[in-house]
Amino acid sequence: MDKLVIKGGRRISGSITASGSKNTSLPIIAATLLTGNGNFTLHRIPDLKDILTFIQLLHHLGVETTFSDNTLRLSSEQVQSLQAPYELVKKMRASIYVLGPLLARFGHARVSLPGGCAFGPRPIDLHLMAMEKLGATITIETGFIEATAENGKLRGGHIVFPISSVGATGNALMAATLAEGTTYISNAAAEPEIETLCRFLMAMGATIRGTGTTELEIDGSNSLKAVEFHNVFDRIEAGTLLAAAAITGGEITVNGVEPEQMKAVLKKFVHAGCTVESTEESISLKSPRKLIPTDVTAKPYPSFPTDMQAQWIALMTQAEGTSHVIDKVYHERFNHIPELNRLGAHIEIHKNQAIVHGPQKLSGTKVMSTDLRASASLVLAGLVAEGTTEVLRVYHLDRGYEKIEVKLNSLGADISREKYNEF
Ligand code: EPZ
Repeated sequence: MDKLVIKGGRRISGSITASGSKNTSLPIIAATLLTGNGNFTLHRIPDLKDILTFIQLLHHLGVETTFSDNTLRLSSEQVQSLQAPYELVKKMRASIYVLGPLLARFGHARVSLPGGCAFGPRPIDLHLMAMEKLGATITIETGFIEATAENGKLRGGHIVFPISSVGATGNALMAATLAEGTTYISNAAAEPEIETLCRFLMAMGATIRGTGTTELEIDGSNSLKAVEFHNVFDRIEAGTLLAAAAITGGEITVNGVEPEQMKAVLKKFVHAGCTVESTEESISLKSPRKLIPTDVTAKPYPSFPTDMQAQWIALMTQAEGTSHVIDKVYHERFNHIPELNRLGAHIEIHKNQAIVHGPQKLSGTKVMSTDLRASASLVLAGLVAEGTTEVLRVYHLDRGYEKIEVKLNSLGADISREKYNEF
């Protein structure tokens, strides 16, 4: 198993280019299952564990792919299986994204239920509700979702999501592109990941209105085709890199970004005392002498993202006073807090609120990753901690960050990746 060994106390400074977005790549790759007409070329696909797991799933379904230099080429002409097995789904919940496309194109899909998640309950009831609204029959048998469309074809309907769900919106959107008639999605997620998925589907020939809003209309079509497409940057990776400079007193420029997508996060960095300047495709951040305590409440886009919550808590351990961090998307997403406290932070949890007392002098020790963003917060804390921090089980980090230690070392960090035995 791998761990990261971080020698703390070095400023993170310089410029770097953001990788392609993981959470946009996954639904886009799933959407390629909607048509066998032609070959897809997808650029700026990050080389990380979750993408490789998704490619494995496609191979299992019979899709041929090549992946090199962040370019994924594939054709879904020869889909042989309509089943997503537990062995792959248990590795990555986002495997559920094959449900909509397979059901819509082939009239049937058998997808393993995802199982538990480190940071609390993550049901998929809204995905299933959406498929039923499009005329599918859903049964759960032996740990699998069995979904069948009447006469092999879905039909347009009105889907009203009681809460905003990125995944369920993505699945409904993809399925609706091949359904008979028009589908209306109300209270759809409006995350940049969904907006980019809409752009991708429209490039394939789909008709979608209301892109970027919470009200989407999709006219079903029979003729989607494969395309060449450039993925967008990873706004969470970019936010994490900005936080690395802010927590170490550094100065950074992240290139290849769309600052518009990061408004809520940048506003909080400014409130914390950072100087932030943006151009059309870059963000520069200069950290202040003293960080100002800044409260955040994580909510669906365009609010502050839950996927930056853990990193923000790590940053606030160095602020001059007390901050309050609430997560309204995942109420229990605080597994990083006991580990940050092991590094010397002073953070309390009350219901879905973290109370971060700062500034705290952190000192290096061994800490355990529990999920993707929690491990990112431990890396940030390790950068500012005195001495050496060992972040264990970094397979969590590798799921969502492309060579993070290489990027941080190019900006002045001292991080090495080492093997270790857990038992
Ligand atoms: C996506 O997960 C992201 N994952 C998550 O990022 C991110 O935290 C989340 O959106 C919220 O922004 C990917 O894009 C692969 P949701 P998703 O459906 O789609 C509840 C990371 O770190 N819900 O928007 O699974 C759910 O429990 C990952 O990169 C239901 O109740 O999230 C949660 O409270 C972690 N029923 C809320 O909705 C459902 O059927 C939002 O979840 C679906 C969701």
